[in-house]
Amino acid sequence: MKIFLDTANVDEIRQGVSWGLVDGVTTNPSLASKEKGRDFKSIVKEILKITPGPVSIEVVAEDYQGMMEQALKIRELGDNAVVKIPMTLDGLRAIKSLKEKRIPVNCTLVFNPIQALFAAKSGAEYVSPFVGRLDDIAEDGMGIIGQIKQIFVNYGIETKILVASIRNPVHVLRSAIIGADVVTLPFEVLKKLPTHPKTDEGLRKFSEDWKKISPDGKFFL
Ligand code: E4P
Repeated sequence: MKIFLDTANVDEIRQGVSWGLVDGVTTNPSLASKEKGRDFKSIVKEILKITPGPVSIEVVAEDYQGMMEQALKIRELGDNAVVKIPMTLDGLRAIKSLKEKRIPVNCTLVFNPIQALFAAKSGAEYVSPFVGRLDDIAEDGMGIIGQIKQIFVNYGIETKILVASIRNPVHVLRSAIIGADVVTLPFEVLKKLPTHPKTDEGLRKFSEDWKKISPDGKFFL
């Protein structure tokens, strides 16, 4: 399972990359709005340079023509730029046209398995179901990931399932068990994943015991 960072913050991406955990990045207009004081074009160019894989950048136009114009500009920024297109009828038309031009699309704002199936049929490279926002309204976000996986296996669909709107490590665990292709994580969730209280406790005990034979904590070599 690939791990993407769900952020437009270059410092977070640099850290995640330094830990060897980040395969790609997803951004959206809300994440962009948090990066104040710097031109978003220069931020995106830097993200494309420091990220070792695909970076999803979202169009803001809602009509087919506008989406196409913005998509082509996004793609000009780099070979790892993936165009994020919303799940609407105009969006599906844009996905089809972009597929014909071999431009990869991440279809966003997907909330049920049929939307995912249709995005795949139109030619999306990735579909992004939003699990956290479904949980927020008392629906079973992870349940639809299982259904999408089943449908894609049934029909041999190669579109990748990118689990989005992730709020906690359990979403990540369940994504891996279901066999999702990608999870996109907020930085805070990424940082939490490798931690465990028993690891911290064990480390404290080793350190205390080492001081029994080396009171100043110095290493033996
Ligand atoms: C990623 O592609 C999505 O835009 C993002 O995961 C949405 O997350 P949110 O529901 O926490 O805003």
